Amino acid sequence: MTNHLLLLITIITTTTTLIFTETGVAAATYNVNKLGAKPDGKTDSTKAFKAAWSRACGSGKPATMYVPQGTYMVGGMQFSGPCKNDNVTIQIDGALMAPSNYLVLAKAQYWLRLQHVQGVNVVGGVMDAQGAGLWDCKSSGSKNCPDGATTLAIFNSKNVNVYGLTSVNSQMFHIVVNGCSNVRVVGVTVEAPRDSPNTDGIHVQLSTGVTILDSKIGTGDDCVSIGPGAMNLWVENVGCGPGHGISIGSLGKDFNEQGVKNVTVKRVNFKNTDNGFRIKSWARSSKGFVDGVLFQNAVMTNVQNPIIIDQNYCPSHKNCPKQVSGVKISNVKYQDVHGTSATKVAVKFDCSKKYPCKGITMQDVNLSFTEEAPASSYCANAGGQTSGVIKPTSCL
Ligand SMILES: *[C@@H]1O[C@H](CO)[C@@H](O)[C@H](O)[C@H]1NC(C)=O
Ligand SMILES: *[C@@H]1O[C@H](CO)[C@@H](O)[C@H](O)[C@H]1NC(C)=O
Ligand SMILES: *[C@@H]1O[C@H](CO)[C@@H](O)[C@H](O)[C@H]1NC(C)=O
Repeated sequence: MTNHLLLLITIITTTTTLIFTETGVAAATYNVNKLGAKPDGKTDSTKAFKAAWSRACGSGKPATMYVPQGTYMVGGMQFSGPCKNDNVTIQIDGALMAPSNYLVLAKAQYWLRLQHVQGVNVVGGVMDAQGAGLWDCKSSGSKNCPDGATTLAIFNSKNVNVYGLTSVNSQMFHIVVNGCSNVRVVGVTVEAPRDSPNTDGIHVQLSTGVTILDSKIGTGDDCVSIGPGAMNLWVENVGCGPGHGISIGSLGKDFNEQGVKNVTVKRVNFKNTDNGFRIKSWARSSKGFVDGVLFQNAVMTNVQNPIIIDQNYCPSHKNCPKQVSGVKISNVKYQDVHGTSATKVAVKFDCSKKYPCKGITMQDVNLSFTEEAPASSYCANAGGQTSGVIKPTSCL
């Protein structure tokens, strides 16, 4: 290499923000600090973040929005597409902190909402929504508390990856995937106290081809909640607790509701959770259904309801519909589930009188209660078969 060429390369790398990808296409990087963000934890950097997004999204070639180390105070942000390229990376080396006044995020409803995008990677980052102020308002019994904001919402999008994000103390749900296809959530950490209200970890609905892998979720509501219209969902290697477990539902809130189809949940470690594998529906008429679920390889440690289907779902038993659930549940398999139940009834299938659960399969389920009192199971309107070790004795 001649000295000239070396010099030229040095000039290029030090004076431009262009980097070269493996395919040789130049990718542009938009650093929020260069657009006015301040990593001091107190200056409102929302504008700079929005500017970096619109540049990365507006770039004709792969682009990166870059958030360096440091703490950035940012309010509600909508990152909307369609973008001019199908490979935008939001690389977050720093931490995002919500404004201390909870009304700012609550009014926006979403802290960061990606919508109508195709080909976006969110990499790294800590998002601390500082939800405690709103939770206190809610627990004070005041009627004037807002619902609160979702920390990261991915709406009506395709080919989105979230890698290694940490979400702390969300006001409401931590991560929501709605109306999407091909979304991967990998290596995510969710942290909120066990008594924080409605702080579901990852919620998926009306979406197909969503994969959740290698994540650790401890929160005040469901670790993963699976709503109507979730199809071809794969959840694997998740730690859950504290929290309300992994839930399909609540379903059947509306009459015209899409079903849940082809869900695999495997290798889950539940610790001190309210539920393990749960399916829940309201007791009302609905066109909703659940068809084809595999719950596999789980360890339950001190879980209140390790295996439960509840078609008379009604939290805190207020204004319960008291009809029969129209949600049809079929082909649900539990395989290799073992550990300890915190209550005597370790397996509960409370299904709809009108549409009994069909094709429930249990294989190698071994759940214990205490040494003196064995666990038991409860069935209403549930049919299926068992094989291998089944403890407690099946009532199917
Ligand atoms: C997207 O761009 C990044 C660099 O910005 C590159 O490493 C990655 O391979 C690209 N991905 C695709 C699917 O093109
Ligand atoms: C079920 O979903 C998985 C992804 O979770 C997918 O690989 C598989 O092809 C789907 N099966 C059917 C029959 O659609
Ligand atoms: C069920 O689990 C208990 C506790 O781990 C264990 O002692 C027992 O051997 C298991 N039973 C069978 C039949 O595998």
